[in-house]
Amino acid sequence: MALTGLFLITFLIVHLAGNLTLIWGSPEDFNAYAKFMTTFPLIKITSYLLYASILGHAVLGIALARQNKAARPVDYAYNKPSANSSWASRSMALLGIITFVFLVIHMKSFWFEMHWGEIGTDSNGNKDLFTVTNAAFQQLWYVALYVFAMTALGFHLAHGFQSAFQSMGWNHPSYTPLIKKVGMAFSIIVPAAFAIIPVWMFING
Ligand code: HEM
Repeated sequence: MALTGLFLITFLIVHLAGNLTLIWGSPEDFNAYAKFMTTFPLIKITSYLLYASILGHAVLGIALARQNKAARPVDYAYNKPSANSSWASRSMALLGIITFVFLVIHMKSFWFEMHWGEIGTDSNGNKDLFTVTNAAFQQLWYVALYVFAMTALGFHLAHGFQSAFQSMGWNHPSYTPLIKKVGMAFSIIVPAAFAIIPVWMFING
């Protein structure tokens, strides 16, 4: 789970950097980025690793949640979980499921369209994914879905980031507090930046 999680975290950084061209680039810049991501051979190979990681992470996560539940079939008579664990850490399965459902909808809207949809081309002859993305983000419910899903992703990362380092055994008295701080900053900044894109396009589209 930790390995696939860390790989997915790396993907988020690359994907966010590309998607930010929706705000500070031209439509042609975004279309060129989308073309590069779907045709450049090394990235294409990495994409298959990405799909496998998403599925592997989800399947292992559900198995782990079931295992945890089975380990304590009868609840404690007195239980105050907030005393020694965060809400995010106790809700990882729910937060993961929300993120996964978001991903299915997201990939249908963009990834499926990019590969198999009938979309026009821009002045450079690249598939005009910008127009598809801009049209999607003119719908308020769709923008709200992104903001909601990015909030869930933020909480998922708030626990997941530092937990991945712990699972890998990368614990150190001086580095662990720093990893926790970086993890917290990452889980706020990255989902917030993703969420700003649809909101910005809704307002300016
Ligand atoms: C504003 C937010 C987002 C926008 C505008 C956006 C846009 C896109 C577009 C246009 C594509 C198809 C072209 C491509 O492969 O690059 C895509 C693919 C994808 N997106 Fe997003 N995305 C956003 C957020 C996210 C988030 C938060 C996640 C993960 C939690 C995600 C996961 C993916 C995945 C896994 C693919 C398929 C990548 C591949 O085939 O290699 N996206 N996205």
